[in-house]
Amino acid sequence: MSRKAVGTVDKTEKICYNSFITCNMEVDPMSTILLAGGAGYIGSHTAVSLLDSGHDVIIADNFSNSCPEAVSRVEKITGKSVKLYELDIKDTDKLSAVFSENNVDAVIHFAGLKAVGESVEKPVVYYRNNIDTTLSLLECMSRYGVKNIIFSSSATVYGEENPVPYTEEMKRGTCTNPYGWTKVMMEQILEDAAKADPELSVVLLRYFNPIGAHESGMIGEDPQGIPNNLMPYVAQVAVGRREKLTIFGRDYETPDGTCRRDYIHVCDLADGHVKAIDYALDHKGTEVFNLGTGTPYSVTEIVETFQRVNGIEIPHVYGSRRAGDLPESYANADKALSILGWKTRRDLADMCRDTWNWQKNNPDGYRK
Ligand code: NAD
Ligand code: UD1
Repeated sequence: MSRKAVGTVDKTEKICYNSFITCNMEVDPMSTILLAGGAGYIGSHTAVSLLDSGHDVIIADNFSNSCPEAVSRVEKITGKSVKLYELDIKDTDKLSAVFSENNVDAVIHFAGLKAVGESVEKPVVYYRNNIDTTLSLLECMSRYGVKNIIFSSSATVYGEENPVPYTEEMKRGTCTNPYGWTKVMMEQILEDAAKADPELSVVLLRYFNPIGAHESGMIGEDPQGIPNNLMPYVAQVAVGRREKLTIFGRDYETPDGTCRRDYIHVCDLADGHVKAIDYALDHKGTEVFNLGTGTPYSVTEIVETFQRVNGIEIPHVYGSRRAGDLPESYANADKALSILGWKTRRDLADMCRDTWNWQKNNPDGYRK
């Protein structure tokens, strides 16, 4: 098995960030959490929240959309070590070895391909990767008696039919692309697994639009090639890697004609996973939570806020609509508050400031 341990960092080197937020989240007893795809954008931030909360973290990733440097930086931020395995989660034999070598209490499944446009061009690759990683994790969990899994789902599962704000009991809708369908299918697979095994605890987290970065500026979103998503594109314009932003459509039935989304700071999202782990360890069956703020912002508001908070002009033009975009998508976030005791703490200004702090310190992402 190809196993790679990342160097550990002496505790005295720990840089204390967000202490008032994370120090309140100490848990007892400590659990061991396997992050499948944990070297990526959301996984690396979640690793920081889990480590700061007292959990042990194991990461398994094939680095198809990330790099080991992100994990080294997680260790540097937290002053704690992470056990790192380089492997494809689809490879059930290699994954089995991770379970046999460690007493895993819970799995968080981030390991998926996520580019919507690419999923339209390469549907088989997307179905193969996203579904097989899920099946492989469930098989290993069953083999080693691991009963808790948190899944990275998406607001995309609400599809085109449901009205905003989305609530968890709404039926999953019709997706416009294979990426979205993989999320619908994976939710179904996990629900079925929980129905068949009454000991299993499945938490489906439906993320809205994660943006921002850890306030250290040491970890953040590092897309390969031309960014598909809004905030990384804005950040790359700010740092001079792209000339200008094209805003896709200004003729929507929204207050300023541009689409509105529920942007959530990635560190708030990460903290939501800590709450979800605590919940999963105490419950059985399937539970679904929206992780969003409940407040939508338009594309124009994002650009204006980024410019104001960071004092940087973002050259932009208005273009035609992007196929598949909904006018509005935002959460009703009440359930996560009432059941998990989780709500977001950071506002849009924080999201814009932290995105820029990451991008300006790492103009080429992790590749320096
Ligand atoms: P990311 O690409 O940064 O992270 C995914 C990680 O999984 C990467 O490190 C990648 O190398 C790894 N991976 C993919 N396939 C793998 C495989 N077969 N074996 C091992 N590792 C594999 O993406 P992210 O933004 O951190 O998203 C994490 C999860 O959250 C994904 O499932 C994504 O679909 C979901 N999600 C993301 C968003 C978003 O806007 N970022 C929104 C909703 C849902
Ligand atoms: C997109 C995906 C969604 C996925 C999510 C996270 C589509 C249709 N939806 O959500 O399935 O879960 O990413 O990966 O792709 N925008 C611009 N100019 C740009 C980029 C974006 O105007 O260069 C606009 C978009 O039209 C949209 C908003 O910014 O109105 C947010 O876009 P994006 O960041 O791609 O997220 P979503 O479309 O909400």
